[in-house]
Amino acid sequence: MNSMQDLNVQMKWRDAYVVGYGPMDHIHEEFVGIVGQMQTCADEDLSELLQQFIRHARAHFEEENNWMIETQFPPRACHIDQHNAVLNSAMEVQQLLMQGDYAMCRKFVHALVDWFPNHTDHLDSALAHWMFKRSYGGKPMVFRTIEDSQMA
Ligand SMILES: [Fe+2]
Ligand SMILES: [Fe+2]
Repeated sequence: MNSMQDLNVQMKWRDAYVVGYGPMDHIHEEFVGIVGQMQTCADEDLSELLQQFIRHARAHFEEENNWMIETQFPPRACHIDQHNAVLNSAMEVQQLLMQGDYAMCRKFVHALVDWFPNHTDHLDSALAHWMFKRSYGGKPMVFRTIEDSQMA
């Protein structure tokens, strides 16, 4: 659904990321904002931003995990595993960054840029439909710009 993201181009919130469930779109916009800053920041700002990312990721993943657990969303196990894997990597990278390993942190940022559209397309959008259906009894209407629809 989403077009490929060039890992070196700063991530920006775009229509192609919209899943149509407001609370999820809101938290995803925050994810894109922080990761975008990490792509372009100076080395000395990485540690502060990584800290911010970890705080964000904890809240983001906990919220989605809770939605899945509370509503007994059937395919929740692999989705929760992916969240845990990202958070664990972030904490490992934080340890390495404290020892001055900026390159590994940059690599991790690239991995996040690559991971987010796939995770959103394959796992989050299914959860969004499920949550939307429970709240409003239908599939979310997703409005995209023509450009994004063509690239999808
Ligand atoms: Fe998400
Ligand atoms: Fe997720």
